[in-house]
Amino acid sequence: MKSFQNIISEELKVFESKFSNAVKSNVSLLDTVMKYIIKRKGKQLRPMFVFLSAKLHGTINESTYRAAALVEMLHTATLVHDDIVDESMERRGFFSINAIWKNKIAVLVGDYLLSKGLLLSTQNGEFEQLRILSEAIKQMSEGELLQIEKTRKLNIDEDVYFEIIKNKTASLLSSACGVGAYSTTQNDEICRQMKIFGEKTGIAFQIKDDLFDYGTEKIGKPTGNDIKEKKMTLPLIYTLSNVDKQTRRKIIYIIKNDSINKEKVKWVIDTVVSTGGIKYAEQKMLEYRDEALAIIDTYPTSDVGNALKDLVRYTTDRKF
Ligand code: IPE
Ligand code: IPE
Ligand code: MG
Ligand code: MG
Repeated sequence: MKSFQNIISEELKVFESKFSNAVKSNVSLLDTVMKYIIKRKGKQLRPMFVFLSAKLHGTINESTYRAAALVEMLHTATLVHDDIVDESMERRGFFSINAIWKNKIAVLVGDYLLSKGLLLSTQNGEFEQLRILSEAIKQMSEGELLQIEKTRKLNIDEDVYFEIIKNKTASLLSSACGVGAYSTTQNDEICRQMKIFGEKTGIAFQIKDDLFDYGTEKIGKPTGNDIKEKKMTLPLIYTLSNVDKQTRRKIIYIIKNDSINKEKVKWVIDTVVSTGGIKYAEQKMLEYRDEALAIIDTYPTSDVGNALKDLVRYTTDRKF
């Protein structure tokens, strides 16, 4: 067990049972899908960020548990929807929901998870929690839509890339750290600072995810899917702005017209590697990681702080 899991192992156990209780349904089709989702749980990074951000400032309580469950429910909802949008058939090492139950059901399952999450806050009068997380949901939708808009025109530059990933991914991690800290402090300034910490971590996290897509390792979901979907991420963006005009044209042509041709896509990937696109993205990822770590370094040294820093490092060192 990793240090960051160790220090909150009891909390994580309680969390799991609360989470599966929270998504139960009397509609048997829905219940079947929920059981499938619970069985194939992910890394649970976001609940860990909630717990450690809470523990860094006080004692974990019921409000922290609700925050953790809500965050993971929102995350799961967006994954279910994201796999429909990306036409992706694999998730967490198994078939995605849309692969088994098709898009109609997957859309509704995502909506169910989202609304059950929000109800968890409202039923307990946690309006600050609800406010912080609703903001994240709004940003996530904006991020995914901005990505689609830009993908159509194939004109993503670095600024747009960072805007997309801040919205679609970092917003939730940022809110996770914010609500976690808020649950033990009710202090707006601490909450604000922890949101910045979460955002930096979230940016590093998504760069890592985008790097995985250029690799060949088994990560429990398809690789090479981004180019296929004409999604331009940091390694490719760097390469496009650092190669000669002719190569640039060739890459764009392949993405536009041949993105399902395995051989041609392999050439694009090889070009990204040989022109330093991967290296550049790794370096950017580590910059954001270090900025996140520096925020925790402003606190007096503690076991919880160290665990939180290990969790940040894990988001960039992880193997899946
Ligand atoms: C995947 O997130 C979606 C992204 C934001 C890149 P995770 O890698 O945290 O997914 P699970 O929950 O562990 O499967
Ligand atoms: C993250 O983007 C999606 C969400 C924020 C839901 P990706 O589309 O890259 O995520 P994966 O790779 O499918 O997990
Ligand atoms: Mg996807
Ligand atoms: Mg991805």
